[in-house]
Amino acid sequence: MSFSHLHLLCPLSGISLLVLKQQGISSLQLQSLREISAGNVHIAENSQLCYYSTVNWTRLFRAGNQKVLIRNNRSPQECAKEHMVCDTLCSDAGCWGPGPDQCMSCRYFSRGRTCVYSCNLYEGDIREYANGSMCVECDAQCEWADDDSLTCQGPGPEHCAKCLHFKDGPNCVEKCPDGLQGANSFIFKYAEVNNECHPCHANCTQGYEQSVRGHILVLHLNSLSSALNETSLFFLIHLSLFQFVHNKQYADMLFFYFCSRI
Ligand SMILES: *[C@@H]1O[C@H](CO)[C@@H](O)[C@H](O)[C@H]1NC(C)=O
Ligand SMILES: *[C@@H]1O[C@H](CO)[C@@H](O)[C@H](O)[C@H]1NC(C)=O
Ligand SMILES: *[C@@H]1O[C@H](CO)[C@@H](O)[C@H](O)[C@H]1NC(C)=O
Ligand SMILES: *[C@@H]1O[C@H](CO)[C@@H](O)[C@H](O)[C@H]1NC(C)=O
Repeated sequence: MSFSHLHLLCPLSGISLLVLKQQGISSLQLQSLREISAGNVHIAENSQLCYYSTVNWTRLFRAGNQKVLIRNNRSPQECAKEHMVCDTLCSDAGCWGPGPDQCMSCRYFSRGRTCVYSCNLYEGDIREYANGSMCVECDAQCEWADDDSLTCQGPGPEHCAKCLHFKDGPNCVEKCPDGLQGANSFIFKYAEVNNECHPCHANCTQGYEQSVRGHILVLHLNSLSSALNETSLFFLIHLSLFQFVHNKQYADMLFFYFCSRI
């Protein structure tokens, strides 16, 4: 029997939970159950069943007239003798079965459905931050802090203490935008020594025209400043090719491009 994903019980005929004469089960494992909207609970004659006595059933009830009938299951004393008790990471609110993923609530912190002693703020393969008593993973773009400092203070790539790769505005990113489609133009940025992305100078990405004659791409450079050197010219040509390909004029063309300050 597995009801581990049951969230809510609604009755069909006055009884919403009936566990009767099940000799094979030692725990109910209803770890997702948060509410019993209406109807009674009847748990009886289950000779091996433990943990049931730790649950405050009234707390799960929503209607005023619900009743709980529990009798002739394994005694709590015998269960305790066999160490069939709630995990130490569970709060006093009880549990549905053995282990830290069967708790009604956690004594310290939770990671998903499992109760844990603490969040991985400073150690562990996956670093976390604590939102109240919940441990939440840091974004993949955050750089692990190997000293005694936090990897992130919140969710997403904008709450990293340090970026794994580059920083674009508030966000940590894999790479600076290189030809990202903006509102009215393509966005090109280059990385400074501190790994922050900066927009390429407008002269780098604008101030020229391109046209196509037959299969030849023609750049009209006359509007560019005299500061144009090999580097910026190289960028400009590749930017132009990029836009050319982006407009699906050459689908299979291979190229690369880079940006620098003019
Ligand atoms: C069970 O929960 C109800 C409702 O929250 C509360 O009034 C009652 O005192 C609790 N019983 C125990 C034994 O904790
Ligand atoms: C903390 O958790 C609450 C409830 O799940 C959520 O609304 C809030 O956005 C979270 N805050 C952070 C910083 O993750
Ligand atoms: C950008 O271009 C304008 C006009 O084409 C020119 O006046 C200006 O000096 C250029 N800026 C740089 C930094 O080259
Ligand atoms: C190109 O010119 C800019 C300034 O106009 C300069 O900073 C840059 O170093 C030059 N690049 C090369 C390769 O000469």
